This record gives sequence, structure tokens and C-alpha cells, in this order.
Amino acid sequence: MSVPLLSVRGLSVAFRDRRGETLPLREVSFDLRAGQRLALVGESGSGKSLTAFAIMRLIRPPGRIASGEILLEGRDLLGLSARQMAAVRGGEIAMIYQNPLSAMNPVQTIAHQLVEAIRRHSAVSKDAARRRAIDLLGEAGVPDAASRIGSYPHQFSGGMLQRVVIAMALAADPKLLIADEATTALDVTTQARIVDLLARIVDDRGAAIMFITHDLGVAAALCDDVQVMYAGRIVERAEARRFYEHPIHPYSEALLEAVCRLDAEPDRRLTAIPGNPPLAGAFPSGCAFHPRCPHAVPICAEQAPPRVPTGGPGWFAECHLGRERLDGLTLADAKEPLP
Ligand SMILES: Nc1ncnc2c1ncn2[C@@H]1O[C@H](COP(=O)(O)OP(=O)(O)OP(=O)(O)O)[C@@H](O)[C@H]1O
Ligand SMILES: [Mg+2]
Repeated sequence: MSVPLLSVRGLSVAFRDRRGETLPLREVSFDLRAGQRLALVGESGSGKSLTAFAIMRLIRPPGRIASGEILLEGRDLLGLSARQMAAVRGGEIAMIYQNPLSAMNPVQTIAHQLVEAIRRHSAVSKDAARRRAIDLLGEAGVPDAASRIGSYPHQFSGGMLQRVVIAMALAADPKLLIADEATTALDVTTQARIVDLLARIVDDRGAAIMFITHDLGVAAALCDDVQVMYAGRIVERAEARRFYEHPIHPYSEALLEAVCRLDAEPDRRLTAIPGNPPLAGAFPSGCAFHPRCPHAVPICAEQAPPRVPTGGPGWFAECHLGRERLDGLTLADAKEPLP
């Protein structure tokens, strides 16, 4: 087997406040293969952005990476100097954030910022960098790029500016693109266009993408695999189609239930997941989802759930009932604690 593009092993992130230390990210492990598209989903506060920031080594004090390894093609990013890591950031790994304005400098032209990003990672003349910038903008779907490249960020609409940010992220030909809620701030039509664009771009370049989103529909449209986070852990990873048809973890099932499905009967009620996701520092014992889980049995409150393989590369569910759910047992029958 070849080395995965990205391999995250036992990654924990700690924050310290007056009351002590909390671990909002707990022993997170997963792989991403070259060219793979991975969706990272889960309710607010589940640790999606922390995972992304940890990979980029952008966790600021009082936060810190408490344990783990982040291997990019086998090289541990946590062992790199600040200078080496700066070259990885925006080089081999690029990140697109929710708010495109925050990624841009408001007082410099798009041309200036793009040319700078290109020249940071390759030794080309200013003219060549400008030509490449225009090409990148065109690729990202900015019409009439040659004449608009001299504009300032505020002269672009939100959707257009997100395309500029995508062009910027592509400047160094990254192997991994991390998009953290990159389409959330946009209207639905623009969202769909940007999602299509990202899919095409990663395909054309053979780049991998980690797509963080609240939107399970967008995750389905774009991604090969779906990875679900809850209370700082990955509770399920599955191939996207299998995930939508047969979620194993009850939390995955609840998330899918909460989505208004297009194929649902017209009068089907939208179910929200009862209760709130727990806060770091107050994660329930055993399986953190147990207080909200309609299928919980006593062991769920007592012991951390096992990681049950679900039949594919890197696919698993962390659930005491994972085995039974996989075998298609009706959970209404699972009244007794498992041995
Ligand atoms: N600067 C910080 N100081 C203390 N705790 C933090 C900090 N940033 C994040 N956390 C903790 O980490 C948890 C996970 O945060 P994270 O931003 O990763 O959530 P998320 O899954 O990206 O949520 P959202 O969908 O709202 O973006 C938070 O609930 C919080 O407890
Ligand atoms: Mg977030």
C-alpha cells in the first residue's frame, strides 16, 4: 500500500482556561488518499475547524496540540520548524475559509495579492506571475479576468470573491485543499456553482480535498467519503453513497434524519436531534452521544465505544451497537447491555 497523502494519528487539541484544561479534540485518527474527496460533517462545536487548524498548525495559545502526529506523505508536520511549516501552508496544503474577505487584504488589488502568492512558491517574473494569476482566475470562473484583476476585494461580490480566494489557494498547486464552510456564506445558486468548481478543480489536478460543511447535501454532491464528528471525535467514516443509504452510527442517522431530503414524502416532518451537542469539558462518559441516542443501552454510558470496521478502506463506526447495526439487527430489540 502506498503512503496516504495525509495521515492523522491520535490528534488531540487542548485549551486551558481558569477552570483547567479541556480537550475539544480527542485522539482523532484518519487518512486521506491523494485525489480523495472527504467531507467532514457534524454539528457546531464538534471539532471540524479545530481539526483543520491543527493540520495547518494554526492553533493559537491558550490552545495547543496535546498529542498526535500529522503526516503529510509520511513527514510529520508537527516536527517541522515554523519556517518549513509556513512553506507547507499555502504550498502543499491550502485552506479556504468561510469568509472570503478575511482571506484578502482590503487595501491591495487582487493582482498584487495573487502575484505575491504565486511568487512566494515559485521563482517566476512578475509578468509571468500576472499571466498565471489571470489564468487561475479564469479557471476559478472569474469572467473577464484580465480586466478585473486590477480591482480591489470590495469591488467583487461575495461569490466572485470566493472564486478569487480559490484562485489564490490554487496558486501553489496544493496537493491538499481544505475548505472550511467555504460556501456557507453564499446564496444557494452560487454555492452549487462553487461546489461544482471545486470538484472540477480537484479532479483536473489530482488534488485531495477536505470539505468541512454543515450541509450533507453538498457533502453528498462533492465527496467520495463522509466523516462525521461528534464531541471532538470521529464517530463514523463511510463511503458517501453507503453513508446516505445505511448510516451505522445513530448520530449519523440522526443527522440525516434532520435534513430535509428531496426524496422524502411531502408531509414528512423534519426531525431535529433532541438536546444540544455537549461542550468540551463536559463531554458525557462512555459514548459522548449516549444522552441523545435513541438506541443507547447501559454500556454506552460506561465505556468508550469500540471502533467497528464497516467493510472498506478506513471505514468504521465508533458505537457499542455498531456490530449489531451492521448486521441489520433491529435496535428496538437491543434492550440488554452487551457483554
Ligand atoms: N479559542 C478557543 N478556546 C477555547 N476553546 C475553543 C477555542 N476554539 C475552539 N474551542 C473548542 O473547540 C470546540 C470545537 O470547535 P470547532 O471550531 O472546531 O467547531 P466546529 O465543528 O468547526 O463548529 P462550527 O460548525 O460551528 O464551525 C468548541 O466547541 C470549543 O469548545
Ligand atoms: Mg467550524
